[in-house]
Amino acid sequence: MSPTIRQMLHETIARFHQAHIDSPALTARVLLAHALGQPREWLLAHDDTVLDDAGAARIAALVARVLAHEPLAYILGHREFYGIDLLVDSRVLIPRPETEMLVDLALEYIKSHDGAAASSSAQVDVIDVGTGSGAIAIAIACHAPDARIIAADISREALEVASENAQRCNCGERIRFIQSDLLDGVDVRARVIVANLPYVTVEEIDALPPEIQEHEPRVALDGGADGLMLVRRLLAQLDVHLVPGGMAAFEFGASQGTTALEAAAQSLPGWHIELRRDLAGLDRVLLAHKTLEP
Ligand SMILES: C[S@@+](CC[C@H](N)C(=O)[O-])C[C@H]1O[C@@H](n2cnc3c(N)ncnc32)[C@H](O)[C@@H]1O
Repeated sequence: MSPTIRQMLHETIARFHQAHIDSPALTARVLLAHALGQPREWLLAHDDTVLDDAGAARIAALVARVLAHEPLAYILGHREFYGIDLLVDSRVLIPRPETEMLVDLALEYIKSHDGAAASSSAQVDVIDVGTGSGAIAIAIACHAPDARIIAADISREALEVASENAQRCNCGERIRFIQSDLLDGVDVRARVIVANLPYVTVEEIDALPPEIQEHEPRVALDGGADGLMLVRRLLAQLDVHLVPGGMAAFEFGASQGTTALEAAAQSLPGWHIELRRDLAGLDRVLLAHKTLEP
Protein backbone atom coordinates (compact mmCIF):
# COMPACT_ATOMS: atom_id res chain seq x y z
CA MET A 1 0.00 0.00 0.00
CA SER A 2 1.24 3.55 -0.76
CA PRO A 3 2.47 5.51 2.29
CA THR A 4 0.78 8.56 3.77
CA ILE A 5 2.64 11.85 3.96
CA ARG A 6 3.23 11.24 7.68
CA GLN A 7 4.76 7.81 7.05
CA MET A 8 6.93 9.15 4.22
CA LEU A 9 8.09 12.02 6.41
CA HIS A 10 9.06 9.70 9.28
CA GLU A 11 10.88 7.33 6.96
CA THR A 12 12.75 10.19 5.27
CA ILE A 13 13.80 11.77 8.57
CA ALA A 14 15.12 8.40 9.77
CA ARG A 15 17.13 7.90 6.56
CA PHE A 16 18.60 11.41 6.74
CA HIS A 17 19.44 10.92 10.41
CA GLN A 18 21.25 7.70 9.65
CA ALA A 19 23.19 9.32 6.79
CA HIS A 20 24.23 12.28 9.05
CA ILE A 21 22.43 14.83 6.91
CA ASP A 22 22.27 18.26 8.59
CA SER A 23 18.92 19.15 10.24
CA PRO A 24 17.24 15.90 9.11
CA ALA A 25 13.68 16.82 10.13
CA LEU A 26 13.70 20.28 8.56
CA THR A 27 15.41 19.00 5.41
CA ALA A 28 12.82 16.22 5.05
CA ARG A 29 9.89 18.65 5.46
CA VAL A 30 11.32 21.16 3.00
CA LEU A 31 12.01 18.40 0.49
CA LEU A 32 8.57 16.77 0.69
CA ALA A 33 6.83 20.13 0.40
CA HIS A 34 8.98 20.96 -2.65
CA ALA A 35 8.29 17.56 -4.27
CA LEU A 36 4.55 17.99 -3.77
CA GLY A 37 4.52 21.65 -4.84
CA GLN A 38 2.97 22.75 -1.53
CA PRO A 39 3.99 25.03 1.36
CA ARG A 40 5.46 23.28 4.40
CA GLU A 41 2.42 24.02 6.58
CA TRP A 42 0.26 22.11 4.09
CA LEU A 43 2.12 18.89 4.97
CA LEU A 44 1.03 19.14 8.60
CA ALA A 45 -2.59 19.76 7.75
CA HIS A 46 -2.65 16.90 5.21
CA ASP A 47 -0.40 14.29 6.79
CA ASP A 48 -3.08 11.57 6.42
CA THR A 49 -3.08 12.00 2.64
CA VAL A 50 -1.98 8.87 0.80
CA LEU A 51 0.75 9.67 -1.73
CA ASP A 52 0.06 8.79 -5.34
CA ASP A 53 2.74 6.97 -7.35
CA ALA A 54 3.95 10.11 -9.11
CA GLY A 55 4.34 12.03 -5.83
CA ALA A 56 6.15 9.13 -4.16
CA ALA A 57 8.51 8.85 -7.16
CA ARG A 58 9.31 12.58 -7.09
CA ILE A 59 10.11 12.36 -3.38
CA ALA A 60 12.29 9.27 -3.88
CA ALA A 61 14.32 11.05 -6.58
CA LEU A 62 14.92 14.10 -4.37
CA VAL A 63 15.75 11.99 -1.31
CA ALA A 64 18.41 10.20 -3.37
CA ARG A 65 19.99 13.58 -4.23
CA VAL A 66 20.12 14.59 -0.56
CA LEU A 67 21.66 11.23 0.34
CA ALA A 68 24.30 11.88 -2.34
CA HIS A 69 25.08 15.08 -0.35
CA GLU A 70 23.87 17.49 -3.00
CA PRO A 71 23.20 20.83 -1.24
CA LEU A 72 19.52 21.51 -0.57
CA ALA A 73 19.72 24.93 -2.25
CA TYR A 74 20.74 23.26 -5.56
CA ILE A 75 17.92 20.73 -5.24
CA LEU A 76 15.36 23.46 -4.57
CA GLY A 77 16.99 25.64 -7.24
CA HIS A 78 17.06 28.84 -5.21
CA ARG A 79 18.41 30.57 -2.08
CA GLU A 80 17.49 33.80 -0.34
CA PHE A 81 20.19 36.45 0.01
CA TYR A 82 19.58 39.93 1.45
CA GLY A 83 15.83 39.26 1.19
CA ILE A 84 16.12 38.44 -2.53
CA ASP A 85 15.24 35.08 -4.03
CA LEU A 86 18.15 33.97 -6.25
CA LEU A 87 18.35 31.04 -8.64
CA VAL A 88 21.29 28.79 -7.79
CA ASP A 89 22.65 25.60 -9.27
CA SER A 90 25.95 23.79 -9.50
CA ARG A 91 27.40 26.56 -11.72
CA VAL A 92 27.60 28.96 -8.75
CA LEU A 93 28.52 29.10 -5.08
CA ILE A 94 25.47 29.19 -2.81
CA PRO A 95 25.46 32.72 -1.32
CA ARG A 96 26.19 32.72 2.44
CA PRO A 97 24.58 35.01 5.05
CA GLU A 98 27.94 36.44 6.21
CA THR A 99 28.44 37.93 2.73
CA GLU A 100 25.47 40.26 3.33
CA MET A 101 27.95 42.42 5.28
CA LEU A 102 29.62 43.45 1.99
CA VAL A 103 26.25 44.68 0.72
CA ASP A 104 25.66 46.69 3.93
CA LEU A 105 29.09 48.32 3.64
CA ALA A 106 28.66 49.18 -0.03
CA LEU A 107 25.17 50.66 0.53
CA GLU A 108 26.43 52.66 3.53
CA TYR A 109 29.18 54.14 1.37
CA ILE A 110 26.87 54.90 -1.57
CA LYS A 111 24.27 56.57 0.65
CA SER A 112 26.80 58.69 2.56
CA HIS A 113 28.49 59.85 -0.69
CA ASP A 114 25.24 60.63 -2.44
CA GLY A 115 26.43 63.60 -4.49
CA ALA A 116 29.34 61.72 -6.03
CA ALA A 117 27.39 59.20 -8.14
CA ALA A 118 29.21 57.93 -11.22
CA SER A 119 28.50 60.36 -14.04
CA SER A 120 30.85 59.53 -16.91
CA SER A 121 31.05 56.40 -19.04
CA ALA A 122 34.57 55.83 -17.69
CA GLN A 123 33.23 55.38 -14.16
CA VAL A 124 30.70 53.12 -12.42
CA ASP A 125 29.43 53.10 -8.85
CA VAL A 126 30.30 49.51 -7.98
CA ILE A 127 32.38 46.63 -9.32
CA ASP A 128 31.59 43.20 -7.83
CA VAL A 129 34.58 40.95 -8.53
CA GLY A 130 33.78 37.21 -8.56
CA THR A 131 30.04 37.80 -8.74
CA GLY A 132 28.97 34.11 -8.86
CA SER A 133 25.15 34.06 -8.68
CA GLY A 134 25.21 37.88 -8.80
CA ALA A 135 24.16 37.99 -5.14
CA ILE A 136 26.16 41.07 -4.04
CA ALA A 137 25.72 43.09 -7.24
CA ILE A 138 21.98 42.42 -7.41
CA ALA A 139 21.37 43.17 -3.71
CA ILE A 140 23.20 46.50 -4.11
CA ALA A 141 21.28 47.29 -7.30
CA CYS A 142 17.94 46.55 -5.60
CA HIS A 143 18.70 48.92 -2.71
CA ALA A 144 20.56 51.66 -4.58
CA PRO A 145 18.25 52.24 -7.54
CA ASP A 146 20.55 54.72 -9.33
CA ALA A 147 23.74 52.70 -8.97
CA ARG A 148 25.52 51.53 -12.12
CA ILE A 149 27.35 48.29 -11.52
CA ILE A 150 29.82 45.94 -13.17
CA ALA A 151 29.69 42.29 -12.13
CA ALA A 152 32.78 40.33 -13.17
CA ASP A 153 33.59 36.64 -12.96
CA ILE A 154 36.11 34.34 -14.60
CA SER A 155 33.38 31.70 -15.03
CA ARG A 156 31.11 32.12 -18.05
CA GLU A 157 28.67 29.63 -16.50
CA ALA A 158 28.39 31.70 -13.31
CA LEU A 159 27.74 34.83 -15.38
CA GLU A 160 24.82 33.08 -17.12
CA VAL A 161 23.19 32.45 -13.72
CA ALA A 162 23.98 35.98 -12.49
CA SER A 163 22.51 37.57 -15.57
CA GLU A 164 19.31 35.49 -15.29
CA ASN A 165 19.00 36.52 -11.62
CA ALA A 166 19.44 40.19 -12.52
CA GLN A 167 16.67 39.94 -15.14
CA ARG A 168 14.35 38.31 -12.61
CA CYS A 169 15.05 41.14 -10.15
CA ASN A 170 14.47 43.82 -12.81
CA CYS A 171 17.92 45.30 -12.40
CA GLY A 172 19.58 43.75 -15.46
CA GLU A 173 19.82 47.10 -17.24
CA ARG A 174 22.04 48.63 -14.55
CA ILE A 175 24.45 45.72 -14.22
CA ARG A 176 27.04 45.00 -16.92
CA PHE A 177 28.32 41.42 -16.75
CA ILE A 178 31.91 40.87 -17.82
CA GLN A 179 33.91 37.67 -18.08
CA SER A 180 37.26 38.64 -16.64
CA ASP A 181 40.21 37.37 -14.62
CA LEU A 182 39.77 39.72 -11.62
CA LEU A 183 39.84 43.25 -13.10
CA ASP A 184 41.97 42.45 -16.17
CA GLY A 185 39.05 42.90 -18.58
CA VAL A 186 37.49 45.90 -16.83
CA ASP A 187 38.32 49.25 -18.40
CA VAL A 188 36.55 51.66 -16.02
CA ARG A 189 37.05 52.92 -12.47
CA ALA A 190 34.58 52.50 -9.60
CA ARG A 191 33.63 54.28 -6.39
CA VAL A 192 33.24 50.94 -4.61
CA ILE A 193 34.86 47.57 -5.31
CA VAL A 194 33.45 44.56 -3.48
CA ALA A 195 34.72 41.01 -3.68
CA ASN A 196 33.94 37.69 -2.10
CA LEU A 197 36.67 35.76 -3.90
CA PRO A 198 37.55 32.13 -3.19
CA TYR A 199 39.50 32.02 0.10
CA VAL A 200 39.57 28.37 1.14
CA THR A 201 43.11 27.00 1.46
CA VAL A 202 44.05 23.86 -0.45
CA GLU A 203 44.28 21.95 2.85
CA GLU A 204 40.88 23.19 4.04
CA ILE A 205 39.18 22.11 0.80
CA ASP A 206 40.02 18.48 1.54
CA ALA A 207 38.33 18.78 4.95
CA LEU A 208 35.13 20.44 3.74
CA PRO A 209 31.82 18.54 4.02
CA PRO A 210 30.88 16.65 0.84
CA GLU A 211 28.00 19.08 0.17
CA ILE A 212 30.60 21.78 -0.50
CA GLN A 213 33.66 19.83 -1.59
CA GLU A 214 31.94 17.61 -4.13
CA HIS A 215 29.19 19.93 -5.37
CA GLU A 216 30.10 23.62 -5.24
CA PRO A 217 32.39 24.81 -8.06
CA ARG A 218 36.07 24.41 -7.23
CA VAL A 219 36.79 27.75 -8.92
CA ALA A 220 34.53 29.37 -6.31
CA LEU A 221 36.42 27.84 -3.37
CA ASP A 222 40.12 27.52 -4.12
CA GLY A 223 42.10 30.45 -2.70
CA GLY A 224 45.54 28.84 -3.12
CA ALA A 225 48.11 27.89 -0.47
CA ASP A 226 47.06 30.38 2.25
CA GLY A 227 43.61 31.22 0.85
CA LEU A 228 44.54 34.79 -0.06
CA MET A 229 46.16 34.30 -3.47
CA LEU A 230 43.33 36.04 -5.38
CA VAL A 231 42.81 38.72 -2.73
CA ARG A 232 46.52 39.67 -3.03
CA ARG A 233 46.27 39.90 -6.82
CA LEU A 234 43.17 42.06 -6.54
CA LEU A 235 44.79 44.36 -3.96
CA ALA A 236 47.51 45.07 -6.53
CA GLN A 237 44.83 46.15 -9.07
CA LEU A 238 42.90 48.46 -6.75
CA ASP A 239 44.78 51.71 -7.24
CA VAL A 240 44.10 51.70 -10.98
CA HIS A 241 40.42 50.78 -10.67
CA LEU A 242 39.25 52.78 -7.66
CA VAL A 243 38.56 56.54 -7.80
CA PRO A 244 40.22 58.78 -5.16
CA GLY A 245 38.07 58.64 -2.02
CA GLY A 246 36.71 55.24 -3.12
CA MET A 247 36.31 52.16 -0.95
CA ALA A 248 37.08 48.47 -1.39
CA ALA A 249 35.58 45.70 0.77
CA PHE A 250 36.79 42.10 0.56
CA GLU A 251 35.50 39.08 2.46
CA PHE A 252 38.03 36.53 3.76
CA GLY A 253 38.13 33.47 6.03
CA ALA A 254 37.70 33.93 9.78
CA SER A 255 41.35 33.05 10.53
CA GLN A 256 42.88 35.18 7.75
CA GLY A 257 42.44 38.69 9.24
CA THR A 258 46.04 39.41 10.21
CA THR A 259 47.45 38.12 6.93
CA ALA A 260 44.88 40.08 4.92
CA LEU A 261 45.68 43.25 6.85
CA GLU A 262 49.43 42.83 6.26
CA ALA A 263 48.91 42.16 2.56
CA ALA A 264 46.74 45.29 2.21
CA ALA A 265 49.20 47.50 4.12
CA GLN A 266 51.97 46.33 1.80
CA SER A 267 49.98 46.83 -1.44
CA LEU A 268 48.24 50.07 -0.53
CA PRO A 269 50.65 52.41 1.30
CA GLY A 270 48.91 55.55 2.61
CA TRP A 271 45.39 54.08 2.37
CA HIS A 272 43.16 53.77 5.42
CA ILE A 273 42.81 50.04 6.06
CA GLU A 274 40.74 48.27 8.69
CA LEU A 275 39.13 44.92 9.48
CA ARG A 276 35.43 44.49 10.23
CA ARG A 277 33.95 41.68 12.31
CA ASP A 278 30.81 39.70 11.54
CA LEU A 279 27.92 39.13 13.98
CA ALA A 280 29.81 36.18 15.49
CA GLY A 281 32.68 38.53 16.38
CA LEU A 282 35.06 37.04 13.78
CA ASP A 283 37.27 39.13 11.49
CA ARG A 284 35.53 38.82 8.16
CA VAL A 285 35.98 41.86 5.91
CA LEU A 286 38.93 43.99 4.86
CA LEU A 287 38.03 47.62 4.20
CA ALA A 288 40.41 49.85 2.25
CA HIS A 289 39.71 53.55 1.69
CA LYS A 290 41.72 55.27 -1.01
CA THR A 291 42.82 58.73 0.05
CA LEU A 292 41.56 61.78 -1.86
CA GLU A 293 44.23 63.25 -4.12
CA PRO A 294 45.62 66.54 -2.75
C1 LIG B 1 33.32 32.52 -3.25
S1 LIG B 1 32.52 32.69 -4.80
C2 LIG B 1 31.51 34.12 -4.48
C3 LIG B 1 30.32 34.25 -5.34
C4 LIG B 1 29.42 35.44 -4.94
N1 LIG B 1 30.12 36.69 -5.01
C5 LIG B 1 28.88 35.25 -3.53
O1 LIG B 1 29.31 35.97 -2.63
O2 LIG B 1 28.03 34.38 -3.33
C6 LIG B 1 33.86 33.29 -5.76
C7 LIG B 1 33.57 33.63 -7.22
O3 LIG B 1 34.79 34.14 -7.77
C8 LIG B 1 34.95 33.63 -9.08
N2 LIG B 1 36.38 33.65 -9.43
C9 LIG B 1 37.34 32.75 -9.11
N3 LIG B 1 38.53 33.13 -9.62
C10 LIG B 1 38.31 34.32 -10.25
C11 LIG B 1 39.17 35.21 -10.98
N4 LIG B 1 40.47 34.97 -11.14
N5 LIG B 1 38.60 36.31 -11.51
C12 LIG B 1 37.27 36.56 -11.37
N6 LIG B 1 36.43 35.75 -10.71
C13 LIG B 1 36.94 34.65 -10.14
C14 LIG B 1 34.34 32.25 -9.05
O4 LIG B 1 33.96 31.82 -10.34
C15 LIG B 1 33.16 32.46 -8.08
O5 LIG B 1 31.99 32.78 -8.79
